[in-house]
Amino acid sequence: TIFYEDDADMSILNEKTIAIIGYGNQGRAQALNMQDSGVEDIIVGNRSDDSRKQAREDGFEDYDIAEAAERADIIFLLIPDEVAPGIYQEEIEPGLEAGNTVNFASGYNITYDFIEPTADLDTIMVAPRMIGDLVRELYEEGDGAPSMIAVNQDYSGNAQETALALSKAIGSTRSGVIEGTFEMETKIDLLTEQALIPLFFNAIAAKYEIEREAGIPGEVILLEQYLSQEMAHIFEVMGTDGFIGQLPLHSQTSQYGQMSRAEAYNREEMKSYMRERLREIETGSFAREWTNEQQAGYPMLNRLYKEFGDTEMIQKEQETIEKLGLGDE
Ligand code: NAI
Repeated sequence: TIFYEDDADMSILNEKTIAIIGYGNQGRAQALNMQDSGVEDIIVGNRSDDSRKQAREDGFEDYDIAEAAERADIIFLLIPDEVAPGIYQEEIEPGLEAGNTVNFASGYNITYDFIEPTADLDTIMVAPRMIGDLVRELYEEGDGAPSMIAVNQDYSGNAQETALALSKAIGSTRSGVIEGTFEMETKIDLLTEQALIPLFFNAIAAKYEIEREAGIPGEVILLEQYLSQEMAHIFEVMGTDGFIGQLPLHSQTSQYGQMSRAEAYNREEMKSYMRERLREIETGSFAREWTNEQQAGYPMLNRLYKEFGDTEMIQKEQETIEKLGLGDE
């Protein structure tokens, strides 16, 4: 099912206090969109930092997280997924009352039972398929970011209606809201990150390496690959016209080359790599690994940053960005 404007009724939000817990990428965008949609009683719960200052500058009443959670009927949990379980348990849960709604923006913590809400709450998800900046920008242009919604606990009997009303308030019903589950959201999100992006990165790195072997200068390769932003533009057109629809942007030589070589490519090895990643996500072994990594103080993440940053390709990339003044645009 896909829901649009007419499927959602924001009147269910009347008389409700909404607390945005975490005024970051998503928090700020969603709070401002809801305000512009006419939602009246929005408060912010944040620790003392720059985000909280920003919330105050934007005109929202700001509170410590515990106090905001206590005042609110609907709680938006928009702090990073890694810190959410601890904050939920210590600062949010004590202030919740039967019938309150907790709204998640990702499936992760519910999927892996890192957060276990009591049975007398509505627990829903409105997960924009878009970074926060664009959630705001699209809304301001009269459009909206699509979202996936899900209901995990329906204590009130109105959880779905609330999720739809919130989707409308942040602008998502303007472009379309799909129904899913917390598990589904976790799976597609993590698989994009762990199965798709690594293959994409390795494809670019592999092409770089063989072209360097063939004597082609690094900056020439990188401009062709992504620094010219041609590739970004192609992906943009794909998002509106589709895979086949964007092909006419390219020469016929290119069209023939793309499709004939794509057809000949053996996808099985790639799929078995992806199935392995899916298995780690389904069994929770990735989630356990990541929790251990956080508890150990991020030794692997730090090593990975260092190792990736040390490669010839990335050094060349930074040099080229600087030489061409690309970051200044
Ligand atoms: P963010 O990284 O922008 O969060 C920053 C906010 O969290 C700030 O308000 C900061 O004060 C607070 N915060 C950070 N560490 C904290 C701590 N230790 N204790 C208390 N508060 C702390 O978060 P973002 O990216 O907006 O993500 C929020 C939720 O939205 C997550 O569940 C994420 O999965 C989801 N989401 C994020 C998207 C994105 O593109 N960034 C897209 C769709 C969903």
